Amino acid sequence: MSDGTAVPEKANDYKKAVRDTYNINAAVYSEHTFMQHRNLEVLAEKIFSAKDSFACVLDIGAGSGFSLGNLDRYERQDSLGHLVRADISEKALLSGPLISRFPYINVCCDAERLPFVENYFDLVYANSVLHWLEAESGHTGFERAIHEALRVTKPGGIFAASIAAAETSRMFFKVYESIMRESGKKLSTKVRIKKNPIGAMELHTVVDTLLSFGAGIISAELVYEPVLYSSAKEYLNDVKAYGYHSLLSGVDANLQSILWNEISQRFLEKVGPGDYLHDQYMIYVLASIRHNAVDGTR
Ligand SMILES: C[S@@+](CC[C@H](N)C(=O)[O-])C[C@H]1O[C@@H](n2cnc3c(N)ncnc32)[C@H](O)[C@@H]1O
Repeated sequence: MSDGTAVPEKANDYKKAVRDTYNINAAVYSEHTFMQHRNLEVLAEKIFSAKDSFACVLDIGAGSGFSLGNLDRYERQDSLGHLVRADISEKALLSGPLISRFPYINVCCDAERLPFVENYFDLVYANSVLHWLEAESGHTGFERAIHEALRVTKPGGIFAASIAAAETSRMFFKVYESIMRESGKKLSTKVRIKKNPIGAMELHTVVDTLLSFGAGIISAELVYEPVLYSSAKEYLNDVKAYGYHSLLSGVDANLQSILWNEISQRFLEKVGPGDYLHDQYMIYVLASIRHNAVDGTR
């Protein structure tokens, strides 16, 4: 009998669940990108205050979201040459918005194993992606992804990321964890509880990882960026679009919708009617790639 406590999950199973989530939700994801769009605007501001233009750009985890080339002000300028949009979800990539001004290609690949040669891109960035690689304990995907990002960036180039930080979505995950635990006991079934993937990263972890691979930090900030939703239900719709399958991948498929309904109901009761202020903390980091970066990558 299960006591409903978390069972560690293999990194590959976790990655598959993330990919499945984004494949399944590819068509609807673009209706739920308010937060990511705002993160990208903030990141863009930082990127272009460091340098005016980048010939060759890689967007890691571009999925079906916006890339820099979709932001109006950069689409009109000569700030970007050509762009590679990379993502683990092929369906997400195919559902992405088109970019009209300059050439780009989609490449389906894992951020931990980028299929690009060393020292190739002038700018490599990941908007609201890298927290997905560090969700399970003992899983070192985040470090591998950072290493890969730096490996493919030219000396003198820039690496930039927005990453959801520790404590993001704390309110929701408290409810999620208690329902999952209760259900494991009630249904005498095995339940794997997901660690909060969008609230696991610490600023110092991001900075230390970049420094350990020889990058220089241009800026690194932790920002409280709450998002006001008109209702808790509206917020739940966003969580469902990003996380339903991975959050519920630890239970039998026939129980998933039942548990989701219970989680939603408990959350709505807890929050009550009216506006809902989503508890979002973001890390924004900008790093420069040095000519003598370590680890044999150059
Ligand atoms: C929250 S979405 C962000 C999408 C886009 N960057 C945006 O700003 O809207 C996270 C994306 O990361 C991708 N992703 C997650 N794990 C990945 C991995 N290991 N390698 C590549 N992409 C990954 C997902 O498929 C998804 O498209």
